[in-house]
Amino acid sequence: MKVLVIGCGSIGRRHLKNLAELGISGRAACDLSAARLEQVRAECGVEALHTDLDAALAEGPDAAIVCPVTSAHVPVARRALDAGCHLMVEKPISHTEAGVEALVRDAAAARRVFMVAYSMRFHPGVNRVSGMLKDGRIGRPLSARACCGQYLPDWHPWEDYRDFYMSREADGGGAVLDISHEIDTLRRCFGEVRQVAAMVSHLSDLEIDTDDCSELILRFDSGVVASCHLDLVQRAYRRTLEVFGTEGTILWDYVSQSIQLYTVATGQWELVRHDFDRNRLYRDEAACFLAACRGEGSPPVDGADGLRTLRVVLAAKRASREGRTVEP
Ligand SMILES: NC(=O)c1ccc[n+]([C@@H]2O[C@H](COP(=O)([O-])OP(=O)(O)OC[C@H]3O[C@@H](n4cnc5c(N)ncnc54)[C@H](O)[C@@H]3O)[C@@H](O)[C@H]2O)c1
Repeated sequence: MKVLVIGCGSIGRRHLKNLAELGISGRAACDLSAARLEQVRAECGVEALHTDLDAALAEGPDAAIVCPVTSAHVPVARRALDAGCHLMVEKPISHTEAGVEALVRDAAAARRVFMVAYSMRFHPGVNRVSGMLKDGRIGRPLSARACCGQYLPDWHPWEDYRDFYMSREADGGGAVLDISHEIDTLRRCFGEVRQVAAMVSHLSDLEIDTDDCSELILRFDSGVVASCHLDLVQRAYRRTLEVFGTEGTILWDYVSQSIQLYTVATGQWELVRHDFDRNRLYRDEAACFLAACRGEGSPPVDGADGLRTLRVVLAAKRASREGRTVEP
């Protein structure tokens, strides 16, 4: 199978290395920057390098991994789809709804795989939490709280954060859009979102034109009410998920790689540890995509699902602007 990676920043190069580990010999890379492609040659050992997407697509890749800056996802994915590629598009699917529905529809009509790379779907801790909920370990979930934060200048220490797409609204940056993993996880656990209230704010001194501290309150069709805190300001990386049910509580913590589970049935807290290797997440994700391209299984998040998460993000921004609760 020939796989083209489009956009060779930090995540694109990680995908290229993982493709090699997964036995893909037909790797190609495309980036607007020739200097970036030299880095790809040196770091990832890829020789098929293109600054021109048409030339890259003319080589006939079977699949494309689309990971340029977020605002370029849809136009780049459109060209790869029109060239006949299966698609894995990095999350979030885009920064606006423009062109997304048509892309999803046309990929389905062309019988191409369309996966959105919400990598937390492959996290062993989140998978355990999801399993506990499915098994009814804490009865009926009533309420939940998701949190993720990290100081933006620490994300890409090799570059000035003001030059990073994350600092610019027009490029698809900002906390609520970029850290939409948490919204995807809440949707995975509790179903579709019915109502959104939010304060999407810029509170720090960071020189960015996006939100850096956002608070969302989500009511789901299932009746669950969840809050979601997403920020670019916490000096120590933190990511947690807490779920409160009729028969117990689940507290997951990314950093300590552990889940605390309280159930009425046992009357005590149980500590469940899980191993975690960050790159494994991305390798498992790529393996899942390659399998789907071979017709073995389907992706956990497809284009339509990625669009539903984007609609929650956009609803949060609207709710915040208009100071009212809105529907996604
Ligand atoms: N799933 C995850 O956990 C995860 C992790 C990191 C990044 N991402 C997503 O991946 C995307 C890229 O993030 P990053 O951190 O690698 O960014 P980055 O800034 O490090 O790299 C982006 C690269 O895209 C290139 N580029 C920009 N426009 C292009 C175009 N039209 N065609 C080809 N190349 C283009 C740039 O030259 C740059 O090399 C973002 O959408 C981000 O949200 C997802």
